Amino acid sequence: MSVADLPKVELHLHHEGAAPPAFIKQLAHEKNVDLSKIFDANGGYAFRDFVHFLSTYEDATSVLTGPEEFARLTTAILEESAKNGVVYTESFISPDFCGGGDVGAWREYLAAIQEAANAAEAKHGITLRGVVTAVRHFGADKSKTTAHCAAETAGDFVTGFGMGGDEGQFTQGTFSYAFDQAKEAGLQLTTHAGEFGGPESVWDAIKDLNVERIGHGVRSLEDPALVKELVARQITLEVCPGSNVVLGLFPDFASHPIQKLRDAGVKVTVSTDDPPFFHTTMRREYEELSRAFGWDASDFAELNQTALDAAFCDADTKAKVA
Ligand code: ADE
Ligand code: ZN
Repeated sequence: MSVADLPKVELHLHHEGAAPPAFIKQLAHEKNVDLSKIFDANGGYAFRDFVHFLSTYEDATSVLTGPEEFARLTTAILEESAKNGVVYTESFISPDFCGGGDVGAWREYLAAIQEAANAAEAKHGITLRGVVTAVRHFGADKSKTTAHCAAETAGDFVTGFGMGGDEGQFTQGTFSYAFDQAKEAGLQLTTHAGEFGGPESVWDAIKDLNVERIGHGVRSLEDPALVKELVARQITLEVCPGSNVVLGLFPDFASHPIQKLRDAGVKVTVSTDDPPFFHTTMRREYEELSRAFGWDASDFAELNQTALDAAFCDADTKAKVA
């Protein structure tokens, strides 16, 4: 059996970022919206760099406009993930894109997503949990509304709170109110840091937001004291090697720091981030890592156990997935 056939646990997947280009193209066509500028000649998403990626992402998301469409998207995402051997996944879902921060509307989106997730679980044996996500470049006020939506719906499905978006905008600490509110509601915390921001962004995430996981965190290696701190605090990194390579952080998988972080004792896991944007799948991530670093089934078993340990779900769910 190839390592790519192993069952996989994924912790870092953006719901909208997992939308296949054909799915978005079809919605744009139905709504008479001209989105031709976001697609390349092959029908894939087109972007030049990270900031352009974020605007392409938001343009694509603009045609996803109702609970029913998010339900259809959820079905498509989970079908694709299950095909790639994923048995448990957490996705980032933003109230900003699901009802604009209105709690009543957010509940309707969530109910539709959950219903689709339940059906996918019954059909494909894949479990989904939701991490409610603030968008950093939308600013602190919006993050408070997002945290309010998260706190109002915290429970069996919504188990985490996080933040993505442009790390060049604002400091992590700007969002401490939202993260505190989410934590008080019982949610577990993660934030994107050390992707396009340097090690200081990861320090801020740990100190100012009290997160237990970090999205990416790959630039932590630039600061040995930070690496020690990540190990001491047992913070898990949601590493997305294929995403990092396409966005130009590292030239290829072989140059990616995941092996060095792992050797240093940092808890690392592997995810796809926004698979169709980065032409990747969990299966491909496994294949590339195996090729670049010689990882075998025992390495991936360890990786998956780390992911399951750090998953934002209860012990019963973990036992069922294991
Ligand atoms: N939103 C979706 N993908 C992201 C990424 N890789 N970094 C920050 N925000 C994101
Ligand atoms: Zn991400």
